[in-house]
Amino acid sequence: MPADAGKAPGVTVVRWASGERLGDILTLIHDAFGGLEPPSSVLTETVEDIKRRQRDGVVLVAQVDGAFAGSLFCEVKHGGFYLTRMAVAPARQKRGIGRLLMAAAEAEARSRGLSRLTLRVRTSLPDNLAYFSTLGFTVTGRGQDPGRAPYVTMERALGDTVRSS
Ligand SMILES: CC(C)(COP(=O)(O)OP(=O)(O)OC[C@H]1O[C@@H](n2cnc3c(N)ncnc32)[C@H](O)[C@@H]1OP(=O)(O)O)[C@@H](O)C(=O)NCCC(=O)NCCS
Repeated sequence: MPADAGKAPGVTVVRWASGERLGDILTLIHDAFGGLEPPSSVLTETVEDIKRRQRDGVVLVAQVDGAFAGSLFCEVKHGGFYLTRMAVAPARQKRGIGRLLMAAAEAEARSRGLSRLTLRVRTSLPDNLAYFSTLGFTVTGRGQDPGRAPYVTMERALGDTVRSS
């Protein structure tokens, strides 16, 4: 697992396959998503959802001195590596942890022979759209599930390079 902390010294990113401390990861995710408007469906998810993510894909976590500082769920979907629930603890945002999580997801995707990262962003969250654009993602489509908020799909081809600082 890449551990180049770059701008975020003291942060390590690891794959979390253990069934332990899932409640702490859930709390971190709920804290990170708690400030979004309109409220995210993430807030209704439980430890069982994280177990399912572990079973069906990869759960990445960022840690500082053993405490959870960030997380990102990844799953192979339609030939790409689909990323969801990217979260950094509010007190630790904008210090490069998201970038480290993304680099780890990229490494996981490459190790599976996948050539692109994909994700969805709700259209009501322009800051997130700008954020993922900064990380090299481009909009590839739009959609809306019944009863849910409209979203754009974004992807980044892994042949591309992303600034490391
Ligand atoms: C989105 C989120 C995961 C980003 O994590 P982070 O650790 O704060 O991001 P980073 O510090 O790694 O930022 C990486 C780069 O993006 C830039 N960036 C951050 N927010 C940005 C924004 N709104 N628009 C454009 N660029 C942005 C940073 O300046 C940084 O650039 P730099 O490395 O050149 O300085 C975090 O803010 C979060 O948990 N938000 C709440 C949950 C959420 O919305 N998740 C995504 C759902 S789609």
